[in-house]
Amino acid sequence: MGDKQQFDYLVIGSGIAGLFFALKAAKNGKVAIITKKNQSESNTNYAQGGIAAVMDVHDTFEGHIMDTLIAGDGLCNEKAVEMMVKDAPECINELIGIGVDFTKENNGELALGREGGHHANRVVHAKDLTGREIERALIAAVKKEPNISIFENHLAIDLIMEKDEKTNEDKCFGAYVFDRKEEVEKAFLAKVVLLCAGGTGRIYLHTTNPDIATGDGIAMAYRAGAKLANLEFVQFHPTTLFHPDGHSFLISEALRGFGGVLKLKNGQEFMPCYHEMGSLAPRDIVARAIETELKITGDECVYLDVTHLDAEKVKEEFPTIYNQCLSLGIDITKQMIPVVPAAHYMCGGVVTDLNAQTTIQGLYACGETACTGVHGANRLASNSLLEALVFAKRAVLDSAKNLDAIKIPKDDIYDQPHGTRGNGLTVSYEKERLIIQKAMSGYVGISRNNAGLAKAMTIIEELIDKIETLYFYSPLDANLIELRNMATVAYLVISAAAARKESRGLHYNTDFPNKINYAPIK
Ligand code: SIN
Repeated sequence: MGDKQQFDYLVIGSGIAGLFFALKAAKNGKVAIITKKNQSESNTNYAQGGIAAVMDVHDTFEGHIMDTLIAGDGLCNEKAVEMMVKDAPECINELIGIGVDFTKENNGELALGREGGHHANRVVHAKDLTGREIERALIAAVKKEPNISIFENHLAIDLIMEKDEKTNEDKCFGAYVFDRKEEVEKAFLAKVVLLCAGGTGRIYLHTTNPDIATGDGIAMAYRAGAKLANLEFVQFHPTTLFHPDGHSFLISEALRGFGGVLKLKNGQEFMPCYHEMGSLAPRDIVARAIETELKITGDECVYLDVTHLDAEKVKEEFPTIYNQCLSLGIDITKQMIPVVPAAHYMCGGVVTDLNAQTTIQGLYACGETACTGVHGANRLASNSLLEALVFAKRAVLDSAKNLDAIKIPKDDIYDQPHGTRGNGLTVSYEKERLIIQKAMSGYVGISRNNAGLAKAMTIIEELIDKIETLYFYSPLDANLIELRNMATVAYLVISAAAARKESRGLHYNTDFPNKINYAPIK
């Protein structure tokens, strides 16, 4: 075991939720942010679209709430949605105060884009790289805050659970962490832990997510006994670039909000046959429609056509997408963009209340790791950065209430090594990762069926046995820690998918094509 360090707050993850939380929490105490690569490597950094918020006098909270509930297909917590929507404008203004440079109209007002499922223009954005601009501003602010320490290349292994001295309840007091550079395990102790370690996209072959999205937060919370929910609802983004060198590059839905239209190879529009909102229908509907069209036509991809739009405006609004496509030989102002769906966002996760508090005392969860109730069975576009902000803020307020009273137990358990230390060798475990990714993409993708889910489960259970043996007998290795988490999350997604005997939102099972009627969650 390496060193043992103590803080008031431990933040696991450095995306928008973690940085926003840390900035606010630093007013109350010492904060450690651990991040498994470098400080800006997070799903947030890759978010192109923006943040949904009612900022226009012609828009209404009711409209944003309704669009969120419709996308969520009956499983949203209405209270959580209402709270998030009403808190949104203040969060946007706070980000502006921190220095985020959102795109503006010529008159100086915020430019508001539109994305799938929204009936109004309400997406506040920074051209087509909103996440990167937010990360830039938040990191700059965090660096000025003396109460915050950032630990890069620190990968959380497991949560530290102990009995609370006063209540005798199981409580989270920090995390065991692997320092990838020093190859040593450390204990980070804290009164309050925020789990905001991002999503799970890497359990699929094709994903818009960066390499870090291996479901670490969800897997750790599961091992610690936290309640999880809605893991069957994996959102596939309908439009990622189809190109051998495209690496599932996201073609933002904002392009469709700007007037882009989905077409087949022969130029024929197909979305109006599936939904009255056409190319701007909610994501689950668009992704399934594309999958169906690809099956019918036998084509490898469909196309997003923006060639009818003002070329200069397209270049100005979407410089990243324009340049990325151009570098691969596609001039999007003249040629249709080949696109396919790819795994994008985990709507389920660690269950929280309206204050981001999980079912474990001392443990809060935010962002893609959490299941706060706002996304239900399908997340509305550009509600994710918003959810992260709103719940991070509430977590700080809630956890501040009795921060001073929390005592970290003096226990030598933190001195016991969790595993053996690294031996200087890094094993890729690429073959094992591929087994997970192929099983998930083959059997637990946009459409599922009972036989496929059973097959995926057999493959993953066999792999989990092998990984557990490797994990306990091999030197600690970041790739092995991630592989273990990926297998755990794959197991949880398959279990949740198999347990849902209906089709709803993002979960479509051809053996149970209908919806079961539930009372709305109030
Ligand atoms: C996009 O830009 O299409 C992605 C935005 C989101 O996932 O909310």
